[in-house]
Amino acid sequence: MKFNVEKILSALGGKEVVAKMDSEGRAEALEVLRVQELAECILHQKTVSQIDEEISTRTFRKGVGTLYCVGAATPFGVRQANEDLFVQRLPKMPQKPGLIDYFKLRFFPAHHLLRSADLALKAGMDEEIVFACLLHDLGQVIMKTDHGWWGAQLLEPYVSEKVSFAIRYHQALRFFPDDSVNYEYPKDYNAIFGCDYEPPPYIMDAYQYCRNHRWYMAARLITVNDDYAFNPYHDVEIDKFTDIIGRNFNHPKEGLGFDNTSVAHMWRSIAMPDTPL
Ligand SMILES: [Fe+2]
Ligand SMILES: [Fe+2]
Repeated sequence: MKFNVEKILSALGGKEVVAKMDSEGRAEALEVLRVQELAECILHQKTVSQIDEEISTRTFRKGVGTLYCVGAATPFGVRQANEDLFVQRLPKMPQKPGLIDYFKLRFFPAHHLLRSADLALKAGMDEEIVFACLLHDLGQVIMKTDHGWWGAQLLEPYVSEKVSFAIRYHQALRFFPDDSVNYEYPKDYNAIFGCDYEPPPYIMDAYQYCRNHRWYMAARLITVNDDYAFNPYHDVEIDKFTDIIGRNFNHPKEGLGFDNTSVAHMWRSIAMPDTPL
């Protein structure tokens, strides 16, 4: 929830000021704060219902994977010159593609993933966390809706249980601050979801489950390194992570998409997104 005690205390004038208020005064001050927040919301941000009204004004659904359309906001990179109207012809994949081939030929430029992993690397985090950051939004290439679950499923046969857990639950954790690691509710989410958005029950449940799990911090550290600065000067190449991928990703000898696992068809859909049926 967007509930941050420190922030509320400071908005009300600080701990000392609040300590001097009686309970009626505190309730009144909170009410004033809430009205101010709502005014801010109405003046500067769209509400959930305003965003909802825009659904029928688009030619695509917002959840569509970034590989399958143009015009959708994508964390996978900047728009190309002709991207406003047409999808691009994609380069051919090798017969037995590996993860790096997918990065170079289907996920490019993948700035957001590369920068997030680089932030984790520079912060000296465990290799498994760096690796999870590198893959955390991969699901969005195929489906943005519930991308944490899609991404975890896509990767499960090839990565450790902890990495797929972290990728699945980072999606729910994004909505919930954690002062212990200085993680705040993302400002972008007010614009994306609506300034009065409350996560649905299944996201609340996923958060509660993850919060009490021994791998909570693995998922949380993805949100901490989730790069929303979109710094165009922070250039990172996938080759920087070749060794980390080699140690943490179990490549099938047949190539990703041709290994007959329960997710092989998902990789093929990424490799061949122009196949009509
Ligand atoms: Fe994400
Ligand atoms: Fe992300």
